[in-house]
Amino acid sequence: GGGPALRRRTLFVGAAGLAGLGVGVKAVTAHASDEAPTHGRDVVEFYGDHQAGVTTPPPAHVNYVGLDLVSSGGERDMQAALAGVLQVWTEDAARLTAGDPALADSEPDLARLPARLTVTVGLGPGAFTGTGLENRRPRWLHPLPRYVIDRLDQRRWGQTDVLLQICADDPITIAHATRVLTANVAGRVRLRWVQRGFRNARGTQDESVTMRNLMGQVDGTVNLGPADHDSLVWDDGAEQPWFAGGTSMVLRRIAMNLDTWQELDPRDQELSVGRRIADGAPLSGGTEHDDPDFEAVVDGLPAIPASSHIARARRRSEVERFLRRGYNYDDPPEPDAAGNVPTSNSGLLFAAFQRDVDAQYAPVQARLAEHDALNRWTTPIGSAVYAILPGARRGEVLGAGLVR
Ligand code: HEM
Repeated sequence: GGGPALRRRTLFVGAAGLAGLGVGVKAVTAHASDEAPTHGRDVVEFYGDHQAGVTTPPPAHVNYVGLDLVSSGGERDMQAALAGVLQVWTEDAARLTAGDPALADSEPDLARLPARLTVTVGLGPGAFTGTGLENRRPRWLHPLPRYVIDRLDQRRWGQTDVLLQICADDPITIAHATRVLTANVAGRVRLRWVQRGFRNARGTQDESVTMRNLMGQVDGTVNLGPADHDSLVWDDGAEQPWFAGGTSMVLRRIAMNLDTWQELDPRDQELSVGRRIADGAPLSGGTEHDDPDFEAVVDGLPAIPASSHIARARRRSEVERFLRRGYNYDDPPEPDAAGNVPTSNSGLLFAAFQRDVDAQYAPVQARLAEHDALNRWTTPIGSAVYAILPGARRGEVLGAGLVR
């Protein structure tokens, strides 16, 4: 609780800290009393039927870390290597997420503030094919079809054998967890990429407020809720009994052209999304969480154009639904082949979780690839699909039902 700590700080700041600067103690106390408590020791439970980091609230920062298994002889050796990696990651993640140093922790003091750290482990197709586990692979775990909108840089942001999704409210915590988790399995896996993303900093606004993406749109309004998780997110083990409690993740890196987006007048920006920029309300009226009315007509024209992103992305059947849990990225601009440096290198690390990629995600993605007004300003440059392992109960190892 923040109570005693808050009072201590109020006392310190009020009596000693600012008094000497001539700041009235009364004003300081009034201000300090609505000061937010710190969140560094907040913990998200690691153990459970499901891994954390999917339906748990998204913390402010993420590192998606893509790694490949280092080929080491035959399938049996590879499977043993995978088993070893999962053992180390389970032990380290259980400790780090609880605010305890990992077993071989180079900087144990950096482990003390978990700040809602979650570590979520996923397997790509390569973790099954190279390891003699092909008959245990979830049916939908294969690359997405090629879409005409894709300009994928497979080497930089493509499919890997394994994935770590590391989320926390503090980037120092993430840097440390990333370092520990990758260093402790060096030799068995090789790092391919790290994709860094962020949402609002914790505390800048209430967490019930929908975040904005870097095009300025309110992004995340229509999403799954807790009542949908069992039917639409978590696998029930019907096809692969070992996978009960797992899910799938589609990770798309989608670049935004902010220069051309910014040239657009605000009305056209809204027509391309189908929602108001100011508050995210559908163009058919009401407020953010009111249902869009795709039949509504204004001055003889549809209020929400059929070509708009929400009209195209809207489910055509109840199965076409998934959990969106993306992050923004804003990386240093890189010079192109001609040496010109763009003004920004921003976009979305679009992450979708669903029980079945083929049935739930793929039809929506195919429709958006065919047509979506937003496609003029957005370009998918990375794409990967992972099987997110079922959770580990205390004393269990992640993937225990798969590898031995
Ligand atoms: C809705 C932005 C890519 C699926 C929305 C909304 C915005 C948005 C502003 C409206 C608010 C909301 O309901 O969250 C973007 C941007 C993208 C992008 C900027 C790329 C940079 C995608 C992709 C998919 C997708 C790749 C799936 C393949 C959806 C769905 C909705 C939605 C299902 C809710 C539609 C409904 O109202 O039923 N997106 N999106 N989006 N988006 Fe995207």
